[in-house]
Amino acid sequence: MPSGCIIEASQGKANAILLVITGQHMNLTHEPGSPEKADATPIIRALKWIYVLDDSDLPDGHMAPVYPLGVNVILVRVDGAVYAVSGRCAHMACPLSAGRLEGFMIVCPCHDWRFDVRTGRFLDAPEIGLTVYPTKIEAGKLFVVLRGKEMA
Ligand code: FES
Repeated sequence: MPSGCIIEASQGKANAILLVITGQHMNLTHEPGSPEKADATPIIRALKWIYVLDDSDLPDGHMAPVYPLGVNVILVRVDGAVYAVSGRCAHMACPLSAGRLEGFMIVCPCHDWRFDVRTGRFLDAPEIGLTVYPTKIEAGKLFVVLRGKEMA
């Protein structure tokens, strides 16, 4: 299998992405709350890393809204690791960038729903969640990968 690929495998509601990148820092992701796919055929596609922010502009314990290709994404750095999730709340789409960060948890400013930035999951109902995007840091710059539906 070539490095720099995403493999998607769908079975029922469980969607998972396996990232295979050698020698790069990144987050393993999945997409909670995505629609079911009809088949379980693995899809291999090349990663398209999109520059979103200079590394120095995201201090530890902070969030930053970014808009790769116009998609609302929020970057978060906790304990040195960078995470990227949808910037719109899974409840009623309030901007999570106006919320607050408590450890690994983003609290929505509108109705206090809480999401884990590592998984995107809503803490009170884990079947609901935010889209989670792979991230990497390279040469002092932060990159994300959008999912297929956002690239269409
Ligand atoms: S819109 Fe985020 S909790 Fe309601």
